[in-house]
Amino acid sequence: MTTSRADLPLVVDRADPSSLAAQLITQLRTAVTSGLVLAGERLPSSRELAATLGVSRTVVTTAYTQLFAEGWLEGRHGAGTYVANVTSAPAAARPPALSSVPDCAIEQAMASPMAQSSTPRPGGGAFRAPIELRPGVPWAAGIEPGMWRRAWRHAGTRPPSFWPDELGVPGLRAELVHYLRRSRALNVTPDQILITRGVANGLTAIAAALVRPGDRVGVEEPGYQSAREVLRRAGAEIVPCLVDEHGIVPGELPAGLRLLYTTPAHQYPLGGRLPVTRRQALTAWARATGALIVEDDYDGEFRYDVAPLPALYSMDPEAVVYLGTTSKMLTPVMGTGWLVASPGLVSLLGRRRTEISERVPEPAQYALLALLSSGDLERHVRRVRLEYARRRAVLVETLAPARLLGDTAGMHVVLELPPDRPAAGIVAAAAQQGVVVCTVDRYYAGRPTLNAIALGYGATPRAQLRQAATILRALL
Ligand SMILES: Cc1ncc(COP(=O)(O)O)c(C=O)c1O
Repeated sequence: MTTSRADLPLVVDRADPSSLAAQLITQLRTAVTSGLVLAGERLPSSRELAATLGVSRTVVTTAYTQLFAEGWLEGRHGAGTYVANVTSAPAAARPPALSSVPDCAIEQAMASPMAQSSTPRPGGGAFRAPIELRPGVPWAAGIEPGMWRRAWRHAGTRPPSFWPDELGVPGLRAELVHYLRRSRALNVTPDQILITRGVANGLTAIAAALVRPGDRVGVEEPGYQSAREVLRRAGAEIVPCLVDEHGIVPGELPAGLRLLYTTPAHQYPLGGRLPVTRRQALTAWARATGALIVEDDYDGEFRYDVAPLPALYSMDPEAVVYLGTTSKMLTPVMGTGWLVASPGLVSLLGRRRTEISERVPEPAQYALLALLSSGDLERHVRRVRLEYARRRAVLVETLAPARLLGDTAGMHVVLELPPDRPAAGIVAAAAQQGVVVCTVDRYYAGRPTLNAIALGYGATPRAQLRQAATILRALL
């Protein structure tokens, strides 16, 4: 058995009864349909691949010829063999496969009769990629290429600094002061801002500086798994905190918490927007107990037909650390975010970060600065918000009269199911029809108490959303 290049894991097995060419054909088709190779990518030449696999060149040319004929590959004269654009949803724009998430049943969806109906034939239209309603995935394909290019071109014109600034590029922190005032009514100074690589990175810094092994740390239940994991790795004892459809319930907070992680603008995953009275109760609780509140404002830009609520941070800047990110506004691959706290805590976190040579790449900071100062980012958010509102409307209308939680903000909703329709069954049945959805079980640290599925609509075009929602409605 011989393996080809590391990034194209093809193998031929001489003990296999099917011909070597047939083996290559099957594996290359799978590589295309699973998104392992993307439309427009170049494949190795037949000579190279034959040499790598230790087979004759005829084996490879036979395979390539067949795949050309089926439409999976295309040739550019004198320039090699390329993957054709074979699905309506280009693989590059699709989120990564969910194969590692057992409660989303991606493999079942890929193998479903819907996806595989007849022999896959690109151009013939029989193959249909699964529709993934994965929660939390933004519309990266909606980022206007010109805006993206301008930002990175600007970043490229900045000569690299001699040494990273401990708190982040000063110009970016100054620009964020204005952005946070405009978008969140936060009144802060640059020394209250630490640039991060996103929410998880900010939380990691806080945990490293402030959490001692064995500290009791509260996390919403259900809640954001990565936050739980970051805090657990710092040695914290994770204490689940009760959440209802409005968000965290301050009156039910467990005793002895050193820190509380919460998502008041849009509870993740149930979608509640924490009412002002609860916000006041939370900051009063923090004052009374000495606990620190970490406010994760990951997608507060996206709310529909509802007025903004004050950030917890603005209600008590000493008791709260605020975390923002570009992961939802733009894409997680941007890798930028900000932490807002008292100047003392910001400088402590900056120092600690320097001690371990931790930094945020400067070009990404300059690209974000360009996006903010040009107004491009806010224009993008307005455009995307409009599209998300339309996508949300498609889901809500098509699923009516199903009970949906959290449909006033963000880019996902939670569909509550009747007790006689277990979520795992609906997930599996949807996968059979090529629709990938997830149960909310994985957001629980303890035993799940809600029979529901989470439906992300950020990355899915409206026509596909309607199709998926129609399938789901029929299953209900
Ligand atoms: C609740 C919550 N917070 C934050 C994030 C983004 O985190 P980061 O900025 O680390 O990418 C996500 C992304 O899925 C999220 O669901």
